[in-house]
This record gives sequence, structure tokens and C-alpha cells, in this order.
Amino acid sequence: GKGAAMVTAVACRLVSQRKQIDEILASFELSEENLIEVKNKMREELEYGLKKETHATATVKMLPTYVCGTPDGTEKGKFLALDLGGTNFRVLLVKIRSGRRKSVRMYNKIFAIPLEIMQGTGEELFDHIVQCIADFLEYMGIKGARLPLGFTFSFPCRQASIDKGALVEWTKGFKATDCEGEDVVDMLREAIKRRNEFDLDIVAVVNDTVGTMMTCGYEDPYCEIGLIAGTGSNVCYVEEMKNIEIVEGTEGKMCINTEWGGFGDNGCIDSIRTKYDKEVDEGSLNPGKQRYEKMTSGMYLGEIVRQILIDLTKHGLLFRSQISESLRTRGIFETKFLSHIESDRLALLQVRRILQQLGLDSTCDDSIIVKEVCGAVSKRAAQLCGAGLAAIVEKKRENRNLEHLKITVGVDGTLYKLHPHFSRILRETVKEMAPQCDVTFMLSEDGSGKGAALITAVAKRLHNVGEN
Ligand code: GLC
Repeated sequence: GKGAAMVTAVACRLVSQRKQIDEILASFELSEENLIEVKNKMREELEYGLKKETHATATVKMLPTYVCGTPDGTEKGKFLALDLGGTNFRVLLVKIRSGRRKSVRMYNKIFAIPLEIMQGTGEELFDHIVQCIADFLEYMGIKGARLPLGFTFSFPCRQASIDKGALVEWTKGFKATDCEGEDVVDMLREAIKRRNEFDLDIVAVVNDTVGTMMTCGYEDPYCEIGLIAGTGSNVCYVEEMKNIEIVEGTEGKMCINTEWGGFGDNGCIDSIRTKYDKEVDEGSLNPGKQRYEKMTSGMYLGEIVRQILIDLTKHGLLFRSQISESLRTRGIFETKFLSHIESDRLALLQVRRILQQLGLDSTCDDSIIVKEVCGAVSKRAAQLCGAGLAAIVEKKRENRNLEHLKITVGVDGTLYKLHPHFSRILRETVKEMAPQCDVTFMLSEDGSGKGAALITAVAKRLHNVGEN
């Protein structure tokens, strides 16, 4: 009768709703074939970046870092380090001891960089940085010391030496004016001069991937790759000089900052991008740029999730079809929330509580769907990152003509460290995609600070740069 028909209608609706959700989730699934293609494309783009004729237009920029030496344990002294471009801005004092009681001690202070400064003028940004340094020196009581400084600046820089680096373009959440094309060391020196209160000896500008690699290299000589899976996504690795066509010389090795976040900016992975990826890209500070980064890093994963949730809500599949103010708010799903929502031990009631905190009223069914969405997005991110990394380790293996390569990757970043599944899936993917490589992952303890200090120490030892 009528009742049975109604039950059937409701059941049909549920089945069709589930089908719609499954379709969306399926668009985030990558087949083995997809992943092999990503690995092969990445490899191609790495080569373009290294070659003279294609370097200038390559989407994977392959920037020389002028870091050629690794620490050998004889480094010592007191250093200052700055860390700009990750989750926080920090100033650090690093004390390195050499010899049998080799050790690194650090003191640091975290400073907020307000949005209006990240996206204001370059002068304001650098004045703010110098203000923070002044506070720190004051606080530590070392204002007159003129210590050597390593500047971890986690953006693409075109370097001509270890203490010079022109910002190619801002990435992630930064957009200060009048900086692109300018030398970041000059901008820092000028801001110090403007303040006219203390002097610093700026010795090195360092990408966070390089700092991470060096920090792990201090403990493990097999560490020749640095990976950041955090707010942004990037890798550096040690390359043979003879393969780096844009740098003079063929002897020895140099660390290359790949800036792999720009992978796909020529459309080469468009076949696996979803409409949600495109929406996130279009709503970002740098549309069209850093497409791979936007599929793999903490700053954007939450945004992808948010776009999917909006779509599901519009289709009446979630949140009682109500698109709330919070759901419309950019950036609500930070890495720490995603990590929380996806943790296995968390009861659904707690997922609902987290959503509540974010201003999203959910039913039990909603919370299940949200968790599934988060899972699909972060799994794809880890797999993509793993396929990219497989391209790097395979290149290193072939460089050295080895049947098997044993290598260590130094890793840092909130996504890798906080997320309950990201690191495992990343490691599994590398294993599948590069079976001839035996890859060890080593968590770096504060690579940006410690690494900058170590690089500064090595640079002082090798070239005595910076004294001007
Ligand atoms: C962005 C930056 C890159 C940095 C990475 C991780 O991709 O362009 O330089 O290493 O984020 O912080």
C-alpha cells in the first residue's frame, strides 16, 4: 500500500544520495596507473628544470642552493636563525658545540605575523621582522653581539651564492608588495639599517627543505633529501654538479631546491585534478600557480574539504542543506582539525564536537560523511607526495648507477607530523613506486632553526662569507 511505497521512496533516495557521495569520493581515488604517471611526469619536469634550455620556463624550478658541504661535526659557535614561511615566524639563538661532546642547543621565540603584514608592503614586512629580532636580542640580553645569522626563508629564491637570494614569487599565504625579484638579504639588511639599533652578519639564506636535510644529515650521512609536508609542500636533494647545467663547474655536488609545488602548472596533471581543486586554486592568492602544492599541503587540504562539503550541502546531502556562515569561511579547516577528525580513536560524537567548534551543526550521518571526505582528500595528498618522492629517489639511484639505493629523507612539517595517516600512506606509496630504493624517513627536530645555524657554520668555515 501507500506506506510501503513511501518506505521504498525513502530507501531509493538514500541509495541515490549514497551514490552521489561515493562518486565524489571516487574522483579522489588514484589508480596505480595514475600514480606511475605522476612519478614519470615529475621525473620529466625535474629534468627540464636542470637543463639550460628549459630551466627558465620549467614549472619545477630546480633552484641551486649553493649548499655543497654537509656538517662534519667540527662546527661550533653561537648563531642567530630566522624562520619565516612556515606555521610561525621564529627567531632563534643556536649554540653549537663540536668534538666529542657535540651538541646543539636552541632558544627560540615565536612571533605572530598579522595578516595585514603578510599581505602589506615589503618594507612593513621586513620592518616587522627586524622589530621581532630586536625584541629577541633584548630578551636574551645579546643586543651588542653581532652574531652570524642564517635566514630560513621558505619561498622560492634564485640564488647566486649562499648569502644572496632573489625571491622568485610568493607562495602560500604571503603576498607583500615590492618583494618579488628583490634580494631578501638586501631587504633584511636595509630594514636593519632603517632601525639603526643593532648590526647582524647575514651569512646564509636557506630554504626550509635544505635546513631539514642538513639537520638530519648532521646525524645520518645517508640523508641527501629534505622533505617538507606542512603548510606548503617541497623537496630538496643533493644533485651531481655535472647535471646542474645552469651552474658553472662539473665537479662535486650541490643541493637543489626543487620547488616541486609548481608541478602541474603547465597542465600536465590536469587529468587528475577535480573541480574542487580548481575552485581552491581560483580562490587562492596565486591562481594557476603551485597546483601540486594545492593538492598536497596543509594550507589547502582543508580548503578542498570545504569545497566538497559546500557542494554536498548544495545537493542536499549534508547539514540539512544549510550552507552556514562558517562553511563559507576560508581557512576554517586547519591541519590540526583535519588530523583530529581523522584520528581512528576518535568517536563520532567527538567529530561532531569538533564540527560544532567550527560552527557546523552536524547530525551523526553528517559526521560520518565529513570524516570520509577528509580521508579521501588526505589519502590522495599522501599518495601524490609519495609518487613525487619516488621520482626523486629513482633519479638519485640512476645517477649513481645502482641496482639498489639506500637513502634517508629528512622530513618536517605539520601534515607529516600531526596527521594520523599521511606519513604512513606516503611511505607505503614510495615503497610501491620505487621498489629498488630502500628509503628511511627521519623526522627532523626543528630543521628550520638548527639547519640554518649549521649551514651558517659550514658557510663561515668554507668561505668566510657575510663579513661586509
Ligand atoms: C612552499 C615554498 C617552498 C617551501 C615550501 C614548504 O612550497 O615555495 O619554498 O619549501 O612551501 O614550506
